Amino acid sequence: MLAAKRVLPAGRYLTRALSTRASGILSSVGISTSDEIYGVYDGQWKGSGEIITSTCPTTGEVLARVKTASPKELEEAVGKTREAYKVFRNTPAPLRGEILRQIREALADKRDALGALVSLEMGKIRTEGVGEVQEFVDICDYAVGLSRMMNGRVIASERPGHSILEVPNPLGVVAVLSAFNFPVAVYGWNLALSLAAGNATIWKPSPTTPLCSIAVTTIVSRVLEANGVPGAVASLITGGKETGEAIVASPDVELVSFTGSEHVGRIVGKAVQSRFGKSILELGGNNASIVMPDADLSLAVPAVFFGAVGTAGQRCTSTRRLYLHRNIATEFLERLQKLYGAVTPADPLADNTLLGPLHTRAACDTYEQAVQHLKSIDAEILTGGNRYTQPPLDVGNFVQPTIAIPKSVNPNDHIWKTETFAPILNAAIFDDFEQAIEWNNAVPQGLSSSLWTRDLRNLGTWIGPSGSDTGIVNVNVGTSGAEIGAAFGGNKSTGWGRESGGDAWKQYVRWSACTINFSDAAPLAQGVNFPAYDVE
Ligand code: UN1
Repeated sequence: MLAAKRVLPAGRYLTRALSTRASGILSSVGISTSDEIYGVYDGQWKGSGEIITSTCPTTGEVLARVKTASPKELEEAVGKTREAYKVFRNTPAPLRGEILRQIREALADKRDALGALVSLEMGKIRTEGVGEVQEFVDICDYAVGLSRMMNGRVIASERPGHSILEVPNPLGVVAVLSAFNFPVAVYGWNLALSLAAGNATIWKPSPTTPLCSIAVTTIVSRVLEANGVPGAVASLITGGKETGEAIVASPDVELVSFTGSEHVGRIVGKAVQSRFGKSILELGGNNASIVMPDADLSLAVPAVFFGAVGTAGQRCTSTRRLYLHRNIATEFLERLQKLYGAVTPADPLADNTLLGPLHTRAACDTYEQAVQHLKSIDAEILTGGNRYTQPPLDVGNFVQPTIAIPKSVNPNDHIWKTETFAPILNAAIFDDFEQAIEWNNAVPQGLSSSLWTRDLRNLGTWIGPSGSDTGIVNVNVGTSGAEIGAAFGGNKSTGWGRESGGDAWKQYVRWSACTINFSDAAPLAQGVNFPAYDVE
């Protein structure tokens, strides 16, 4: 049931009546439903800066008003995080792993409640909200193991009586600037690796999903405090643009892990680089699925449906481009349209809902502009194209998933090379596999891609040097929904960052190359002769 409640005037907030739908979820994660709440944690909860509101994308009701950091509180929190790092870096890695194991347990206990909160505040359907918390649990498991395996190397020295070690030391303070679309999991990837590596973390979440960050930080901080670890090992600083800018500019932050748009990522990347900090950028995706004539359509059609419509098209990994071989194009589109036709938008918290709202009103405007643009270039709109403006959906940000066939297949045209964060799928028909690979690779972004085929030769080409140039290269698996085990991230304007599994942890440490001389002589490398004669 959608509560057709509108945003209440700010002054009346303290007397507001939250829908039971919202208040039940907020209470279950310990968020006050009757008061303004603190959005800063650095060992203590606080916040006397600007107030931001969390608005439910489904009903439009204000879920909470959050007190963000004042400039002084921000500075203090960064300072405390640095102090916490100095303590935590000396905690042995397996003990850090034990703390992560406890965080994992605490998160798993609250998995369903947190998942519902993600659904409430972000707008994705409940199962995806829960899945996101599961992703955090999974990366904690991974990091627990990692805490006993973050190995350096012993390297043969060319000098007698010498040995060279490569030692992974803790790096320092890691700032995590996360996006609204994965308000829990992406922080989890970064937190888990940071803690295993012995770092302290500052989380600056999206200003539109503060409640998810407050609920997660409450859980994490309790575990830290119970273990006698300073809470500022996992600090939280909510706020807007200025807060983000101050954190990115701070020389006390060694690594900035940023997830968001290419536009903001470019600014963040330059700002961090200008002070020689480290950054991990996870920016736009503009992901394609290629369907070959030999593909199993009973697998490919639902996967493209999930990739394009799941999360209402608001994953970095959402399928936005569909390249169909001419032989199967008509059948594929007919089958896909049937699935689109059957999807009805509803409360994302309700069982069986597949399509929730977009996260903000502004996203609906972006969607409408994109559809308008498609129409202006005479694209054929096979299905969708409109906002839902009838009650009860009018109070939320609901739009129709859309399939369009643009006239032009030129990948350099705006329509193909731009990521629109909405459920719009552009389709084109190809005759040669090489042509489809070229289209796949021709856009600026390089996050994810997916090939549907049963032919081994196609598979080999696709994952090899002349194949897809994205960071995630799938075969008979859709573009979205990656597991945590492999490194997650994309190439080109996606920013080249890698997070979660694989070798991603290596970015969260300070590598020390240590040459140790245990002999009674001190020869120089490369046989250099530099005698120091005794001076009379
Ligand atoms: C994102 O969209 O920023 O692969 C992250 C996926 C998820 C993570 C997406 N595991 O779709």
